[in-house]
Amino acid sequence: MADPWQAAMDHAVAVARKAGEMIREALQSDRKIMCKSSSVDLVTKTDQQVEQFIFASIREKFPTHSFIGEESVAAGEPCLLTENPTWIIDPVDGTTNFVHGFPFIAVSIGFVVKKEPEFGVVYSCVEDKMYTGRKGKGAYCNGLPLQVSDQTNINQCIVNSEMGSNRDPEVVDKIFSTIRKILCIPIHGVRGVGTAAVNMSLVASGAVEAYFEIGIHCWDVAAGAVIVTEAGGVVMDVDGGPFDLMSRRVLVANNKTIATRLVKEIDVFPAKRDDAP
Ligand code: IPD
Repeated sequence: MADPWQAAMDHAVAVARKAGEMIREALQSDRKIMCKSSSVDLVTKTDQQVEQFIFASIREKFPTHSFIGEESVAAGEPCLLTENPTWIIDPVDGTTNFVHGFPFIAVSIGFVVKKEPEFGVVYSCVEDKMYTGRKGKGAYCNGLPLQVSDQTNINQCIVNSEMGSNRDPEVVDKIFSTIRKILCIPIHGVRGVGTAAVNMSLVASGAVEAYFEIGIHCWDVAAGAVIVTEAGGVVMDVDGGPFDLMSRRVLVANNKTIATRLVKEIDVFPAKRDDAP
């Protein structure tokens, strides 16, 4: 049977590539910073322009679909997942990197139908790497198949994580205590490239074994979750329970052994759900 969402996925790849070009061009010009929830939660004109471009381009082809986008939600649009086919978009994942010219910036496009992820597209635009994952059909980077690492010994792992943008000292303490415990298991190293979508794609590629974060949003992880799953990895909650796209918590790993070992060390702290009223 023909894939009902092939045309949508092809369009997502084309749109992500064009959006990546816009970001690369903007990197060469003045990047005017604005703040959202705090002085470290940044947004730029480029985030807004790229999101408008992506929405308009997808809406033209798929006018009945729903949309959740980082900048639209910031502007007051609802962040509710319905049964309708829904595009979940982060136009510039790694806005802080973009502002500073730190070269890991991604366009992240996830597509969910009846609340089930169908495909994910992550375009790491400075590296020119197009990661894709289609439910049941595998994950690819620039057309080459992706496979997670086969490591089962936690001592031989690299784990990605991020500090996020919450500067509440109690939260920062929990983040550091978790990183400290994980480092001291011991593991080979802790990394983080400043974009959830690329951190997840690195798990899918086998370059690192795991990535976890509390405080991310659905648009940061919707695409990456499909890519990791399709590369053979696992996606779950930081407490080991099932992954919930709206919970603002994610743990992805190459396998369950590594994931459940990390769960033991993660100090969970509250983060208001994306779909909270
Ligand atoms: C952020 C990045 C970052 C993560 C933050 C996200 P943004 O997304 O993914 O790696 O630590 O939690 O909010 O704001 O650059 O789209």
